[in-house]
Amino acid sequence: MTALSSSIRVQRIAKSKINEVDFDHLEFGKYISDHMLVVNYDHGKWHEPEIVPFGDIAMSPAILSIHYGQSIFEGMKAYKSLNGTITIFRVRKHWERMNRSLDRMCMPPISEELFTNSLHALMEVDREWIPTSEGSSLYIRPVVFATESRLGVKISDQYKFIIMTSPVGPYYSKPLKVKVEETYVRAAEGGAGFAKCAGNYGVSFYPTHQARLQGFDQVLWTDAKEHKYIDEAGTMNVMFVLNGKLVTPKLTTAILEGVTRDSILTLAKEMNMPVEERKVGVDELAEACDNGKLTEAFGAGTAAVVAPIATINIHGKDHHLPTPTDTSFQQRVKQKLNNIRLGIESDVHGWNYSIK
Ligand code: COI
Repeated sequence: MTALSSSIRVQRIAKSKINEVDFDHLEFGKYISDHMLVVNYDHGKWHEPEIVPFGDIAMSPAILSIHYGQSIFEGMKAYKSLNGTITIFRVRKHWERMNRSLDRMCMPPISEELFTNSLHALMEVDREWIPTSEGSSLYIRPVVFATESRLGVKISDQYKFIIMTSPVGPYYSKPLKVKVEETYVRAAEGGAGFAKCAGNYGVSFYPTHQARLQGFDQVLWTDAKEHKYIDEAGTMNVMFVLNGKLVTPKLTTAILEGVTRDSILTLAKEMNMPVEERKVGVDELAEACDNGKLTEAFGAGTAAVVAPIATINIHGKDHHLPTPTDTSFQQRVKQKLNNIRLGIESDVHGWNYSIK
């Protein structure tokens, strides 16, 4: 064990796995970096974090998270700029959202100090894992789950907070074909759709699998009551360029408050792009496709970044969108985001957490 400047204890891996990584073909989530950070919670408090080699952990099959779903996560990204500085994008925003997810699932909050120091220390240990090729980054996956071993339905008294990282390339390798979902529901208002809890993803698998069998890459979820308004895409928020304006569904308790969504809305205003956060009607979209008013559609998320949508299926009919070019809003805003993360453009909002 050694101690970092932040006094987090580190047990280093005996032999790094980095040589097994094909950095030219980084499939999302295929490789996990050498180390993980682990913190345990019991007796009403979080204990000292520790960095250990990434690997299996022994768990009772009766832990409450497996049975009753107290499990939440985050997704963030770290980049290495030309001068070697590591930047993690919007740490505070992710920490805030993680605590909202924890709160919704009756799980204990994590202090900003614990969250940030843990990330910082893990980045220092596994800095060699941050890829530098275009479009790549180190994806950071914090996860918190209930570890109390008991079959009774209850709020757990014990948890684990783990951070692991993975060098990644683009999440989607080609423009997407999506289907507006009018049968199944991801989340209803008043539920936990806004939280990044594991159940929101598990519940999406069946409808998404059905859509895949029909030739689609993803579904666009609609509101649970009437299936009349677009919510989000499950792995990302969704945005449209409609009548020359950037239009995106207004946040509700059924929609994840995406950090990339927020960043794009902020940048759009600075790029003099009119922005509307409002209900987006399914029929409105179909009509806009028919009369050429819908010129762009894309997903926005940490993993997906900006994912162009090529085809939207609405009420069973495919609508094709123009291929984005360098002057499309989605390409310009993606470039701007990228430039900020890599330190090419100045970070006027203080979004980057830097590690020298
Ligand atoms: C993210 O964008 O970070 C996500 O969590 C989406 C998906 C990879 C689950």
